[in-house]
Amino acid sequence: MIRYNLGMAGRIPSAFIDELINRVDIVEVIDSRVPLKKAGREYEACCPFHNEKTPSFKVNPTKQFYHCFGCKAGGSAITFLMEYDHLDFVEAIEELAKMAGVEVPREEGGSRFSPEQQQAQKQAKTNLYELMGQCDVFYRQQLRQHAQSQVAIDYLKGRGLSGEIAARYNLGYAPPGNTLGPAMPNQTDNLVTTGMLIRKDTGETYDRFRHRIMFPIRDSRGRVIAFGGRIIPEDNQSTDKVAKYLNSPETPLFHKGRELYGLYEVRKALRHIDRLLVVEGYMDVIALAQQGIDYAVASLGTACTVEHIQKLFRLCSDVVFCFDGDRAGHEAAWRALENTLPALQGTQQIRFLFLPDGEDPDSMIRKIGKQAFEEKIDQAQSLSEYFFSHLREGIGRHDLEAHRTLIERAKPYLQGMADAAYRSLLVRELASYTKKDEREVFGLLGVKGPSTGQALGQGRPGNYSAQGTTANRPSDKAMTPSLVRTALRCLIHSPGLAETIEEPKSLSQIDQPGIGLLVDLLENLKLNPTLNTAALLERWRDRDEGKHLAKLATWQSPLNDLESLQQEFLGAIERLQAKHLSARTDTLLAKSNQGTLSTDEKSELQSLLSRNNRQDPV
Ligand code: GTP
Ligand code: MN
Repeated sequence: MIRYNLGMAGRIPSAFIDELINRVDIVEVIDSRVPLKKAGREYEACCPFHNEKTPSFKVNPTKQFYHCFGCKAGGSAITFLMEYDHLDFVEAIEELAKMAGVEVPREEGGSRFSPEQQQAQKQAKTNLYELMGQCDVFYRQQLRQHAQSQVAIDYLKGRGLSGEIAARYNLGYAPPGNTLGPAMPNQTDNLVTTGMLIRKDTGETYDRFRHRIMFPIRDSRGRVIAFGGRIIPEDNQSTDKVAKYLNSPETPLFHKGRELYGLYEVRKALRHIDRLLVVEGYMDVIALAQQGIDYAVASLGTACTVEHIQKLFRLCSDVVFCFDGDRAGHEAAWRALENTLPALQGTQQIRFLFLPDGEDPDSMIRKIGKQAFEEKIDQAQSLSEYFFSHLREGIGRHDLEAHRTLIERAKPYLQGMADAAYRSLLVRELASYTKKDEREVFGLLGVKGPSTGQALGQGRPGNYSAQGTTANRPSDKAMTPSLVRTALRCLIHSPGLAETIEEPKSLSQIDQPGIGLLVDLLENLKLNPTLNTAALLERWRDRDEGKHLAKLATWQSPLNDLESLQQEFLGAIERLQAKHLSARTDTLLAKSNQGTLSTDEKSELQSLLSRNNRQDPV
């Protein structure tokens, strides 16, 4: 639930999400990004999420749902924005709300502030974003117009940058002296808050950035939240005593441990992000882009944090850290590894590329060109290569003592990993290097191996029989879930069918896998009869069954009219009920044979038998 709570605000009410999905049209949302063609009752296009020549990407206006039959991508307008614009959940909602012209409300309780205070804070923040946007415009104007901007332009040209790249990264120029403050005289307090002005003890303010090349730092939505400013070296002046780069301080808009320079630009430039390169400097990012490598980002003079890496892994699962080959570069790499190792999971991989001493990505690519640079990226060290080679530093080779030290050094890192499968891979390598049995290494490390814990309770046949009901007989198992499935499928296809069930709760006694979900859906729809397929799915976004439902939503009904669909739905429900009643009858009859029926059960059995028109066999 954390992602609903960004920025201390309360949760976004689910009723608002329903309404939003009802209000915006997914066809419009997608069509403005991927032009759609009408195809029968749906719209289609070549899938933007994988390469294809014939369209298998369909958008269904009734369900407000998209689906690709090729790569299985699918979901609501929210999902689409998350995938296509690389937004997180809250950002996608905010984007849709903007399109619909509504404010995103927050539930109370998530914040210690009153709704009015929250509204005021939000407005204040909006004003700060706008102000930063104005600063950005100001600096860019100065680069074009200011009498002294030629030195900045010459410097950028001298570093091989084209006007096109300068424009892509919104490069600007802060003139000498105080210019920003005087240009925005009514905004002094806000400019201090955003770090653009510095206030002296006397109360006077002055520009933080003076006579510098300005690099705006943008958040994932492209809003300017901070700046970096580079000094412009001039022949007749020594710049030794002045910081080469100045950065915005931490402000309400900017937390440098969270932001990556160039990430917005990467997302704008690329549809498919196959890999991301993390470098150290602003100029590295820009020089790489100039040479056609437009997937580089820079951490802003800090080590790569867990938040950074999580941001990166949301976009792609191959992250390559590129550092100078000097001591500082190795230290930065190791810190990046320490920070990311605990968060790694699944198919995510990090790799390491060390450049020759004295080179940075900027100088390197200008020397060897894009192709050779990308070959280097391809050959970057794997996590395990780098991990073990670093840990082996200073340890003698291949004796028992060396192996023990290596295992001891690896221990805290491996213990701290969240993903057991990933850890097992590293342990396997450690075992093979130290020529020990894997199990022994797991033991020495004090971590669980794949043989303990995992083998139990999973994939064992007969697990289900523990529930011990007649419904779980193998012959039923093959058949009955499909009834629930049929009902679910119809319901997701046409949520309006929920109306036909008077009392969803009464179905919950039916002892079938999936019945709880069916009842849950029906009850949700009873309370919110206007939910369409996409809105219904959104309610299950965070639950395990959500994926299952999304899959069912891709079903193409061969039945064109609602009436036939309703027949199929009610037919499935009736058969489920009949099955339940007959199983119940069997149970009671068996009890009757043993003479253990209670009075209540006796009358239940009688009514069951008359209802089913069955003859008492006894
Ligand atoms: P160029 O000299 O322009 O090529 O810079 P660079 O991009 O190669 O940067 P460098 O490798 O020297 O430094 C990497 C990053 O560290 C920079 O992009 C800045 O974010 C940060 N940095 C470098 N020097 C300073 C400094 O003097 N002060 C601060 N605050 N940060 C710096
Ligand atoms: Mn450099």
